[in-house]
Amino acid sequence: MAIERTLSIIKPDATRRNLTGKINALFEAGGLRIVAQRRIQLSRAQAEAFYAAHSARPFFGSLCAFMTSGPVVVQVLEGENAVARNREIMGATDPAKAADGTVRKQFAESIEANSAHGSDSLDNAKIEIAFFFAGVDIVG
Ligand code: RTP
Ligand code: MG
Repeated sequence: MAIERTLSIIKPDATRRNLTGKINALFEAGGLRIVAQRRIQLSRAQAEAFYAAHSARPFFGSLCAFMTSGPVVVQVLEGENAVARNREIMGATDPAKAADGTVRKQFAESIEANSAHGSDSLDNAKIEIAFFFAGVDIVG
């Protein structure tokens, strides 16, 4: 087991419904510490750059429109196996397939408006954290 950091985004469907605190409570109850956090409005260019790995997918345009439809909360979560742990707490991409008690099961509106993003590997976590945060912004 290793202490890791992962990049999390509370998505516009969740900020619109004032769910930031409830989602953060699930992360904290699951053993993750919020070591950096900022509420921002993504530009289209930022959303396209962040999701560049998905640029060939049919849902890319819709995903970027959704992610710029309102504020998001970008955050760094730290803890034991934080990358995998965060994805467990979030649940499956499709809320219909997400386990009971997960963020997406409880809060997601659809497979797209699914309330939270979490990095999918430690390598991507490092890239995604650096996309939004300078080292001095992260206080462990
Ligand atoms: P995320 O990157 O946001 O943590 O989600 P994920 O790994 O569970 O899912 P991923 O395959 O990376 O997809 C990124 C986001 O694109 C939207 N999506 N829409 N309409 C669709 O079929 C579809 N599939 C994915 C979701 O917002 C998903 O989280
Ligand atoms: Mg993903």
